[in-house]
Amino acid sequence: MQLKAQESYTMLNFMAEMQEQFILFISGGGSNARQIIDYFKDNERVKVVGVLSSKANLAMEAFCATQQLPFYDLSNKDFSAYLKICHELNANWVILAGFLKKIPVEFISAYPNRIINIHPSLLPSYGGAGMYGQHVHRAVSEAKEAFSGISIHLVNEEFDKGKLLFQHAVALAPNSTANEVEQQVRALELAFFAKDLDTYVSALK
Ligand code: GAR
Repeated sequence: MQLKAQESYTMLNFMAEMQEQFILFISGGGSNARQIIDYFKDNERVKVVGVLSSKANLAMEAFCATQQLPFYDLSNKDFSAYLKICHELNANWVILAGFLKKIPVEFISAYPNRIINIHPSLLPSYGGAGMYGQHVHRAVSEAKEAFSGISIHLVNEEFDKGKLLFQHAVALAPNSTANEVEQQVRALELAFFAKDLDTYVSALK
């Protein structure tokens, strides 16, 4: 069906007014989540509405309390619990900020093209099942790669295979240890993830 001019104008107006509501999913310490919360603190267009953690994280819970942000420990809960909270908090974007569970198809179809993940390597290298956190950095170090970096991508049903949105690379010193690789990659994450999210959602307007 083709939209008449007036109908399409009304729809665009509505979209322009819609606030981007980010919900953050974490499984680790939450340094990326903190950075995103700080970055969008006074932002009128993008609001972080809550943090959902797949395990207990008292430090993050306390931090969220200081930001008046809901925090949920969803240890041992399935994705219907995640989805319920996403809806309750009116999230319209799901940001995987160090989230290690595989997102099931039913959840993806509730947020089509609206789930964004950060991965600590230059995908398609060092992605897929079992490739997360230190495992990635160890593999990069053992392969004596000259570069590593970060990939920010949409999430689909295949682990780390969704459309790439941004990548940032860093040169590694010869014989870098896994810890040295991690340090450099984490610096990229904190420098770029929130900014790239901002760029991406703004470009869709
Ligand atoms: C980050 O390095 C992130 O890229 C990685 O987990 C870490 C979480 O750190 N994500 C993955 O490996 C996803 N496959 P944080 O909890 O301190 O943000």
